[in-house]
Amino acid sequence: MDSYIDLKDIVTEELKHVDLDRVNVTCSPPDVEPQRQYYFMAKCRQIVKSESERLGRPLYACIQTFGCQMNARDSEKLLGILTQIGYVSTQEESEADFVIYNTCTVRDNANQRVYGRLGFLNSLKRQRPHLKIALCGCMMQEQTVIDKIRKSYRFVDLIFGTHNLFKFAQLLLTMFENRDMIVDIWQETDQIVEELPVNRKYPYKSGINIMFGCNNFCSYCIVPYVRGRERSRDPQEIVQEIRQLVADGVVEVMLLGQNVNSYGKNLDEPITFAQLLSKVEQIDGLKRIRFMTSHPRDLSDELIEVMKNSKKICRHLHLPVQAGSDRILQAMNRRYTKAQYLALVDKIRAAMPDIALTTDIIVGFPGETPEDVEETIDVVRRVQYDNAFTFIYSKRTGTPASVMENQVPEDVVREGFDRLLKEVQDTAKRRAALLQGQVMEALVEEVNEQDASLMTGRLSNNMLVHFPAPATLIGQLVQVSLDTCHGFYYTGHIIS
Ligand code: 5AD
Ligand code: SF4
Repeated sequence: MDSYIDLKDIVTEELKHVDLDRVNVTCSPPDVEPQRQYYFMAKCRQIVKSESERLGRPLYACIQTFGCQMNARDSEKLLGILTQIGYVSTQEESEADFVIYNTCTVRDNANQRVYGRLGFLNSLKRQRPHLKIALCGCMMQEQTVIDKIRKSYRFVDLIFGTHNLFKFAQLLLTMFENRDMIVDIWQETDQIVEELPVNRKYPYKSGINIMFGCNNFCSYCIVPYVRGRERSRDPQEIVQEIRQLVADGVVEVMLLGQNVNSYGKNLDEPITFAQLLSKVEQIDGLKRIRFMTSHPRDLSDELIEVMKNSKKICRHLHLPVQAGSDRILQAMNRRYTKAQYLALVDKIRAAMPDIALTTDIIVGFPGETPEDVEETIDVVRRVQYDNAFTFIYSKRTGTPASVMENQVPEDVVREGFDRLLKEVQDTAKRRAALLQGQVMEALVEEVNEQDASLMTGRLSNNMLVHFPAPATLIGQLVQVSLDTCHGFYYTGHIIS
């Protein structure tokens, strides 16, 4: 046996290459992160290995992700740790030894889905008593949720939140060594632990967190309460992570933050989001840059300029408007008016006529009248969105809007929602049809789900196109002729 490795002697950058089977776990854990977590990974790995030997098969872990791209990225981090520990990933809950739900709480229906599926997990655990169940993510940051799970879902083994995800390995060890439900929720953190393992879903594209949390406090939104105050990552760390990803085959990155336009404002050496983009643009081998989400109030002229001159930033901007009525926008605490939003759109379109614009819209905010919804529809008509995600307002406990009077009756909301949806769909179809016959660059992403002879590619403007091609092209950029528009997507062929 080779000599043992003491993690206290390993520099952070080297941790990912350490053979966990050789780590000395007889000493006490290191005090510093992320060394400390690698120590716990090594310990968990021994446990998984011996259990797997006992059963004569690998142990399977299944992560179910709810919600946004942030959660998707968090799940890749969880899977990175699980893989290091020795679990094999599965999509099938029924064959898993460990099921993790990474939850969302932005609207109540996300919560209800989790409760519904927990019922199913309970029956699964009766058949497979060794099954371990963990819950994490935004929903777990709510005390009412924790109380409910403690009371009615006693079979859950581990609960943690959004601020302490980095200590997943440590929590797993605690879970393995205890039979009681482990609950570890932090209210806040200013810690950003770098260099933990990540298991990416796609070899050729990746999300990158550039900041965590949100300071906007839109009056309907629970995110600032469950994801905490805004914290930006160091630009050097971001660039370094992307360099590593590119070396690993990634050609497209999606920079992730609740409000990327306020990136860097509270760093020791402040930097703007546009400046960060310029740095990322210079990374050799990187082909495409996307980002999500932009708050209209903070979108700077500098950003428009950088986007306009960029060869890599995709021609797509997600610019949530939420509502079109000034009165509702004010009650939502969005801090822009309809006219200001429309002026911003004009400025963006003047600089980049080919840009695709998408948005989020909420219908049924307290006090919203059918006339207010008309204002929203008017914005959709004027902006001509390429796509819009429409949501029915969901009351979130603890937000200012939840205690506002005049919550809108369900039938009125429905009626407004349907009217809006029709406008959104008609507009999106009209916009899509405009590209008919053009040749555009597409990133080949995957084999078409319905027809294995076709590949699915994504255009710079985020639209999908399906075309005959070999799977060997996955991860490559190709020129595709957009032959036939099918509403929201195209079929076409590669131009050689
Ligand atoms: N109800 C409905 N939709 C909401 N969103 C955020 N909070 C709520 C809520 N309470 C929507 C917003 C946001 C998107 C991610 O979710 O449109 O942009
Ligand atoms: Fe994402 Fe917000 Fe849902 Fe959390 S609550 S998963 S941040 S959308």
